[in-house]
Amino acid sequence: MEILHLHRLFLVLVFVLGLGLPCFRVNGNGNGPQQQRRTYIVHVAKSQMPAAFQHHAHWYDSILKSVSGLAHMVYSYDTAAHGFAARLTAEEAILLDALPWVVAVLKELRYKLSTTRTPEFLGLDKISALLPESDSVNEVVVGVLDTGVWPESKSFDDTGLGPVPSGWRGACESGTNFTAANCNRKLIGARFFSKGYEATMGPIDVSKESKSPRDDDGHGTHTASTAAGSAVEGASLFGYAPGTARGMATRARVAAYKVCWSGGCFSSDILAAMEKAVDDGVNVLSVSLDGEMETHFYGDSVAIGAFAAAEKGIFVSCSAGNDGPSSYSLSNVAPWIATVGAGTLDRDFPAYVTLGNGKNFPGVSLYGGNSKGTLLPFVYAGNVSNTTNGNLCRKGTLDPAKVKGKIVLCDRGKNARVQKGSVVKLAGGAGMVLANTAADGDELVPEAHLLPATAVGKKSGDAIKSYLFSDPNPTATILFEGTKVGIQPSPVVAAFSSRGPNSITPEILKPDIIAPGVNILAGWTGAVGPTGLPVDDRRVAFNIISGTSMSCPHVSGLAALLKAAHPDWSPAAIRSALMTTAYVAYKNGGKLQDVATGKDSTPFDRGAGHVDPVSALNPGLVYDLTVEDYLGFLCGLNYTSSQINTLARRNYTCDPSKSYSLYDLNYPSFAASFDSTSGRPTTIKYTRTLTNVGAATGTYKASASSDSAALKIAVVPDTLSFSKAGEKKSFTVTVTGSAMPASTNAFGQLEWSDGKQTVRSPMAFSWF
Ligand SMILES: *[C@@H]1O[C@H](CO)[C@@H](O)[C@H](O)[C@H]1NC(C)=O
Ligand SMILES: *[C@@H]1O[C@H](CO)[C@@H](O)[C@H](O)[C@H]1NC(C)=O
Ligand SMILES: *[C@@H]1O[C@H](CO)[C@@H](O)[C@H](O)[C@H]1NC(C)=O
Ligand SMILES: *[C@@H]1O[C@H](CO)[C@@H](O)[C@H](O)[C@H]1NC(C)=O
Ligand SMILES: *[C@@H]1O[C@H](CO)[C@@H](O)[C@H](O)[C@H]1NC(C)=O
Repeated sequence: MEILHLHRLFLVLVFVLGLGLPCFRVNGNGNGPQQQRRTYIVHVAKSQMPAAFQHHAHWYDSILKSVSGLAHMVYSYDTAAHGFAARLTAEEAILLDALPWVVAVLKELRYKLSTTRTPEFLGLDKISALLPESDSVNEVVVGVLDTGVWPESKSFDDTGLGPVPSGWRGACESGTNFTAANCNRKLIGARFFSKGYEATMGPIDVSKESKSPRDDDGHGTHTASTAAGSAVEGASLFGYAPGTARGMATRARVAAYKVCWSGGCFSSDILAAMEKAVDDGVNVLSVSLDGEMETHFYGDSVAIGAFAAAEKGIFVSCSAGNDGPSSYSLSNVAPWIATVGAGTLDRDFPAYVTLGNGKNFPGVSLYGGNSKGTLLPFVYAGNVSNTTNGNLCRKGTLDPAKVKGKIVLCDRGKNARVQKGSVVKLAGGAGMVLANTAADGDELVPEAHLLPATAVGKKSGDAIKSYLFSDPNPTATILFEGTKVGIQPSPVVAAFSSRGPNSITPEILKPDIIAPGVNILAGWTGAVGPTGLPVDDRRVAFNIISGTSMSCPHVSGLAALLKAAHPDWSPAAIRSALMTTAYVAYKNGGKLQDVATGKDSTPFDRGAGHVDPVSALNPGLVYDLTVEDYLGFLCGLNYTSSQINTLARRNYTCDPSKSYSLYDLNYPSFAASFDSTSGRPTTIKYTRTLTNVGAATGTYKASASSDSAALKIAVVPDTLSFSKAGEKKSFTVTVTGSAMPASTNAFGQLEWSDGKQTVRSPMAFSWF
């Protein structure tokens, strides 16, 4: 987008030189074959379509032809965006951008893929009794944009489900090893989107991956079954995490939209999938993908597609990203998206290292076999390799003569953890201890290694190394302890979970919420083993993986339950209910911890807190939002009418006589960034409106608090009385931030309570 802006200057010159508008053609002139084509998404002001055109697709075609006879159209959009995706040279992109009815020409971006225990952990075992008509869940459809689906997974068994909801317009597309017969009353839709991918990467090799909705990766089957998988008894991964695996909304329907391929996920395909999902009639969209960090919402296809979805009453939940614990590391931060971070469960998979000197060190593993407990010779990878960085156990770097029959200590970093184990195994090693370095501290990731192996933290790793380097005949063994539940404290914010502040609009706190995202058991593909390595020929029905990719579908499934319980709630009302009832403290009163710091988590780490679905069913009050509110927010961002048109597909004019404040978006949290150089206190006024969704009458009292002397918070009025259901009441919050040095953060919270329900909002402020 930035590049195109610069190019507008160049364009002015082109016109001065007499190319003229509107009927110029440039193909053939200086458009040599060496000119690289790439995919652009062209957003068009559809309302300006001349009457001569019968259909917008014809008009888009003619727009494209007006600048190039060679450019090929990849997709034509209508629901999620107005416009099309096409293969263009840079010059053609500039020419298109100059047409008066073209509102934006955006380069395609590449996106990446960012249980048994979770239902009990979330208290969902109690929820069915609380849902007024549990059959209404049958009517809710969760669309999942991901790597596709493995339809044979028992998580998609449709036993006991009624007919497909009557309004459903989706389809079950056929392709490699997938036909309409693979869908059923649980998996009611399956589509794939590869035109954008193939335009850039070349044709899909169907001998290597399925050109169909079939999931050859596992990620999509895992996320879809987490959101809405059926209950499967006796699930586990090699006996780990045993129990009944079930999605959050076991009776909701699933529609899979495959947008990710072996080489990534492309925004033209993502937008096409969001469009189809909206047209098909999904109620919830689950998107566990993140892209390059964008600086504007109008340059981000997920934000654009999500706007159209939100407008149609579809709840869109996205992963916050796995780029934590650094600040400003979030993805998917638009205010019409629920941005989900990750927390741990109370479950662990301990596997101890015992050394020849009798000392024990804790680690974690999902290795599928047993160990005999015999001490074996133990070596450091850096001492048994013929390369520098041999400590990392990269492919072909270990000397089999020095490794055979021994346990090898490898350092974490660079190559995949499971690949290190595979390298040790190929060299004849008997086991592996994987040691964290300073980069990962003490955060441990259990893996389904191909040989007996365990992961240990940095402190343990250092102690083990000092034994290895000092003992003339070091030995070790690894003891696998299986699954342990009841780990405290839990949840804690995962170190990898991306953190605020929000780099696009610091006035909106993100992430919104955290949900379970660490060591989640859910359905898996039959195409690859649990490690995903080509050498892994094991096949499992369930796998245990971690990421905000896993926490996002938890919230998607919970949103489906709330939608079923309250069909009239908007997506913003559902998100508000999830946020204002989220918890920020343990039962013993201690505050939710952050594993990255070992200290209390802040709203920049966990947003409103950890999701609590049972409380979310009855939030008392909600902060609701309409599309009109989001348009006002875009005005507050000073977006031009073409930027607004790109996002919202309409000719919307901000009212010049109105002052739009970003602080007035009726969001269930409060945030701002203060200028540290002003040397003066700054005062911000927020206006908010609460809607009564609880008992007809109730009087709520406000209490605002802060842990920082740098903040003064006032709420007016501090009492709100409701006399009927659906009633709305407004209030203002005035926050004064003292002059503070740059990089200071300060937090607080606002609670409205009627003595029964507590409606809690986090407050987060940073000084830049
Ligand atoms: C967009 O709105 C403005 C102001 O209302 C109006 O002048 C203009 O003609 C509209 N454009 C289109 C294409 O509808
Ligand atoms: C096709 O799907 C079946 C499961 O129905 C699977 O067993 C088989 O390996 C798949 N074949 C290919 C070529 O992917
Ligand atoms: C093994 O590697 C460590 C760390 O690089 C080094 O300190 C030690 O001397 C090496 N030991 C042998 C026997 O080479
Ligand atoms: C290192 O050892 C591996 C395994 O024996 C061998 O394949 C590789 O060629 C060796 N590399 C060097 C640089 O000696
Ligand atoms: C929008 O423009 C107004 C007026 O120039 C300015 O005060 C405000 O800070 C701008 N807002 C943003 C988000 O840039």
